[in-house]
Amino acid sequence: MSASSNFFRSPQLSQDFKEFLSTLPKEKGKDSLYRYHYQGFWYLDLLLEALISCQQHFQAEDSDVFVTSTPKCGTTWLKAIAFALLNRRRHPAASGDHPLISSNPHDLVPFLEMGLYGTSKALDIASFPSPRLLATHVPYSSLPESIRSSGSKCKILYVARDLKDALVSEWHFLARSGVPDLTVAETFKEFCEGLSIYGPFWDHVLGYWKESLENPDRVLFLKYEDMKARPAAEVRRVAEFLGCPFSAEEEEAGEVDRIVELCSFEGLSGLEVNKKGKQEVTGVAIVDNSSLFRRGEVGDWKNHLSPEMTKRIDRIVEEKFCGSGLFL
Ligand code: A3P
Repeated sequence: MSASSNFFRSPQLSQDFKEFLSTLPKEKGKDSLYRYHYQGFWYLDLLLEALISCQQHFQAEDSDVFVTSTPKCGTTWLKAIAFALLNRRRHPAASGDHPLISSNPHDLVPFLEMGLYGTSKALDIASFPSPRLLATHVPYSSLPESIRSSGSKCKILYVARDLKDALVSEWHFLARSGVPDLTVAETFKEFCEGLSIYGPFWDHVLGYWKESLENPDRVLFLKYEDMKARPAAEVRRVAEFLGCPFSAEEEEAGEVDRIVELCSFEGLSGLEVNKKGKQEVTGVAIVDNSSLFRRGEVGDWKNHLSPEMTKRIDRIVEEKFCGSGLFL
């Protein structure tokens, strides 16, 4: 199987970085691309180059807010919610010209290791308004020191999801984005071996989970399933965590529900920009915005995973999360 031309474009890596890569353990994925093992997690070469640049150069500010996750857990959704919450004075959710109506959430909340420190270096972080709202899929332990340091006051939102739904979502996303022959069984195998990009999934989740227990003022751990079950309550929780709780007037005026609606799957996926637009995952891929909105449901894995697959993942969850207090 070979990767198609629109997904995972040819890397333009520096000679120094190629030499560094040659010192790392690597594994070839079913998409024909190598994953490199760095600080306990697996990366594609371009993402790793950007991550290292980011580790070397990124300086966090106390007012920074980060949307974090491992892929396919609800990143797009949480980006939209965080943006709508932080900008609601300037852009009330009901305003007809709300930025989320004309821009995809990924255009409004860039990834550190793609938009900002990716090879094209398209975005200039100095021009960002304060508080800076940024995102990353980088595991907690590999975040730039200035974000993790004990003196840092920046806020981190993390969204996790049932492993089985995340895996099925990842498979559909890759298939729709240019790796059409990839089977669910192949995706499943890589996932269980911990080889998915930014994987192992469970170590990623546990890193942020533990930090959220140790530093609840700094890391808020959210679950996709809770957000689906009680979106208004979770939106209020995020607002409180970010230090911008809803006032009595806003509650009365229905601002919470408006934000929930604006950021809902139906709300976002129906917009022209998300039906027709494209998204550059800098230096890595160009994807249709529509591929970021598939079903947006809990439990779709039942339609794709065999009983054996289900058992294997459940065993992994039991083993890896045992004693952590985390249930996904
Ligand atoms: P499915 O493939 O299960 O539908 P990410 O944004 O991290 O890439 O996650 C993508 C998953 O979140 C996809 O799941 C997508 O449909 C779902 N999603 C995107 N926007 C959403 C929203 N506003 N509400 C709920 N789910 C959403």
